[in-house]
Amino acid sequence: MYTEKVMDHFTNPRNMGEIENASGVGTVGNAKCGDIMRMYLDIDENGVIRDVKFKTFGCGAAVATSSMATELVKGKTIQEALKVTNKSVMEALEGLPPVKVHCSLLAEEAIHAALWDYAQKNNIKIEGLSKPKDDISEEEQEPEY
Ligand code: FES
Repeated sequence: MYTEKVMDHFTNPRNMGEIENASGVGTVGNAKCGDIMRMYLDIDENGVIRDVKFKTFGCGAAVATSSMATELVKGKTIQEALKVTNKSVMEALEGLPPVKVHCSLLAEEAIHAALWDYAQKNNIKIEGLSKPKDDISEEEQEPEY
């Protein structure tokens, strides 16, 4: 059901934990499954993501997608990090079962929420970033059976 990459990131998650005095923190949840993901970003004066950590209270796929998402944004600029979508996270994990696609959306939104928090704290506007949703299930489409 899960690819080796998913199992690897689930059993051995990268960048798990939290960052004290993070530049931006974003928390998103999905009311349907009850899972919650929190991302911490440490952004330097050049707008480069120096460090990133996550905490996920959720399913295995949510843990694996958060872990992969942190790997994809670490060392990137804010603009590059914005291009990390749930699709790119899924691709990097070599796929997710259809019922688990929403878990990767949580990862994308958690990054956006942390960037949004960073922008608010610094009173700046990040091109291409809109206010994140608190509950990503609002956006989800009903799965087709
Ligand atoms: Fe909801 Fe995975 S089942 S985040």
